[in-house]
Amino acid sequence: MAEKVEVKIDGKTLEFPVIVGTEGEKAFDIAKLRSQSGYITLDPGFSNTGSCTSAITYLDGDKGILRYRGIPIEQLAEKSTFVETSYLLIHGRLPNHDELEAFSHAYNEHSMLHEDMINFFQAYPSTAHPMAILSAMVCALSAYYPEFTNERPTPQEIDRIAIQLLSKVRTICAFSYKKSIGEPFVYPRYDLSYVPNFLNMMFSSPTRPYKIVDEVSRALVVLFILHADHEQNCSTSTVRLVGSSHANLYASISAGICALWGPLHGGANQAVIEMLEMVQKDGGNVEKYIAKAKDKNSNFRLMGFGHRVYKNFDPRAKIIKKCADDLLNKLGVHDPLLDLAKKMEEAALKDPYFVERKLYPNVDFYSGIIYRAIGIPLNMFPVMFAIGRLPGWIAHWKEMIQDPATKIGRPFQIYTGEPKRDYVPIGKR
Ligand code: SDX
Repeated sequence: MAEKVEVKIDGKTLEFPVIVGTEGEKAFDIAKLRSQSGYITLDPGFSNTGSCTSAITYLDGDKGILRYRGIPIEQLAEKSTFVETSYLLIHGRLPNHDELEAFSHAYNEHSMLHEDMINFFQAYPSTAHPMAILSAMVCALSAYYPEFTNERPTPQEIDRIAIQLLSKVRTICAFSYKKSIGEPFVYPRYDLSYVPNFLNMMFSSPTRPYKIVDEVSRALVVLFILHADHEQNCSTSTVRLVGSSHANLYASISAGICALWGPLHGGANQAVIEMLEMVQKDGGNVEKYIAKAKDKNSNFRLMGFGHRVYKNFDPRAKIIKKCADDLLNKLGVHDPLLDLAKKMEEAALKDPYFVERKLYPNVDFYSGIIYRAIGIPLNMFPVMFAIGRLPGWIAHWKEMIQDPATKIGRPFQIYTGEPKRDYVPIGKR
């Protein structure tokens, strides 16, 4: 393996060291490019640019591989829990029995919000998007837990903030739903584990006890596990960039939530259902919408399809599709949107436009079907993604802040605006 690459610039030959990852991924380190040549690289969207090295998640887009700390997600989805997977991502290894007990106990201990924060919810209109509430409330946690906002927290302090966030975000999300439907908040219960506690806070009420169905809980655990991390995606890169200024973890996660909200990213699960509902309302004409997705003059995209990295099946989509089938069969639910989604997938995977561009269903294509079957409202879908992704964001923030090589992220640009010109007084313009 070459240990360096040579680049010829303006008659000079520059050498850059080669970095090789655990699975043979290669990069050359251009840290000295600008000082040695005056040149920078330009890569809008960072399709060819690595921002860091990381030991958290490995994915191979061509082979459809996704591993958390080396463990394939297929095994975690089948055998692990969301709390255990969160521990794996944040601490780098699976916990032993006592560690898992203590971690789970801490979740329940920190699941309440400061009672004063309840007032925040009263100020929101019932139509407020829950992602807006979530990002604001996560940042507001720094006001109620100021002891955790120092610039470079110790590993122990980071672990305590992590538990605060992992447990309280679930409560914030459930409270934002209750606010939107005008029902009283249901507080977390000590005797329930992570997902049943969330479901109970979401769907039970003083006059309507909620029956926790194991298959529903397990489907949500699998979804949260599959969403838990995905290396340097838009929102995780946002968390790392904001954290690189030494902004505290609450502020960094709040920024990540905002980045995830976009329909090209975590908002896609909501956009997929909106798309399927539109197609269904228009008579279920799949061919018409496949044609629109291919038409450059229409700004219609097949939401839930395509991925910057996966040029084969998103391994998560395969698991979620089966999970959706199994849950709906178990619940005796028939969702016509699932049939429609399968028809759209089948039509797209036969179409040269999608085949040539290697556009396959991604994590968002089927997840909404499961959320609908559980009774999660449409505008809460991105919130579900955020709950799942939180341990990944925390793991990356921790890796970034603890890396002595981390510098504040500050990309350059190429200026293409006006050349130098003088100010013209208002009367002469
Ligand atoms: C997530 O990065 C991650 O890891 C993200 C994520 C995670 O876990 O964090 O996996 C979660 O965000 C999944 C993606 C959810 N978003 C969507 O489903 C929205 C629909 N998908 C597209 O907008 C798109 O595929 C992206 C945003 C996902 C990826 O965009 P890229 O890599 O910038 O690709 P591109 O826009 O340059 O597209 C390449 C070509 C273009 O056609 P040409 O110009 O070559 O003719 O493919 C076309 C695009 O027009 N294309 C699509 C399409 N996606 C890409 N055409 C129709 N429908 C689509 N969905």
